[in-house]
Amino acid sequence: MDQNISPKDMKEILEAGVLAPSPKNRQPWYFISCGKRNKSRILDLLKTKMEEMTLQSENIGSLPISTKSIEQGSELLLVYNQYSNKEPDYNKNRWKADILSIGACIQNMLLTAHAKKVQTLWICDILFAEAEISALLGSKDELVAGVVFGIGARKEIAKRPRMELDSKLKQTD
Ligand SMILES: Cc1cc2nc3c(=O)[nH]c(=O)nc-3n(C[C@H](O)[C@H](O)[C@H](O)COP(=O)(O)O)c2cc1C
Repeated sequence: MDQNISPKDMKEILEAGVLAPSPKNRQPWYFISCGKRNKSRILDLLKTKMEEMTLQSENIGSLPISTKSIEQGSELLLVYNQYSNKEPDYNKNRWKADILSIGACIQNMLLTAHAKKVQTLWICDILFAEAEISALLGSKDELVAGVVFGIGARKEIAKRPRMELDSKLKQTD
């Protein structure tokens, strides 16, 4: 079941996203909000990719869940890195810092959506069709993730437990 998301809520979610911190205030994120037509074209691209991978006996992982969520969601937002494909002297450290900032931006949006009881899904499966999606939208920048807002209750995924904190913390002298 999908869930409508009002333009006011979506604006507040995006405003929370762009409050994220970034080194030297680079604000490396930008968004493409997909209308109905592009959402459906992107779904077609992902479904074609899924068929190709299945034919090649490749692991399609969570692609079926991701495509279903995109189908059901009321808003598909693509998140891009505006620097990585064009900034002179771009390097691995800059990329790490930009991606961390974009992750913070996405998490800000997800937490704001959660507070508004808007269901979301962070989708990196969209990257399986990165080249095709960029060609469709005429973008030369690096696609980092997709986020779906307003997908309603998702029964497919149970809340998953976390590993013991002790296994995640190394103490040193
Ligand atoms: C970077 C990142 C990428 C993700 N990509 C996908 C995806 O492509 N498809 C999907 O179904 N879920 C994706 N997820 C969502 C997770 O599978 C999971 O639903 C989310 O972390 C919340 O569930 P949890 O709190 O039970 O772990 C992604 C999460 C993160 C942080």
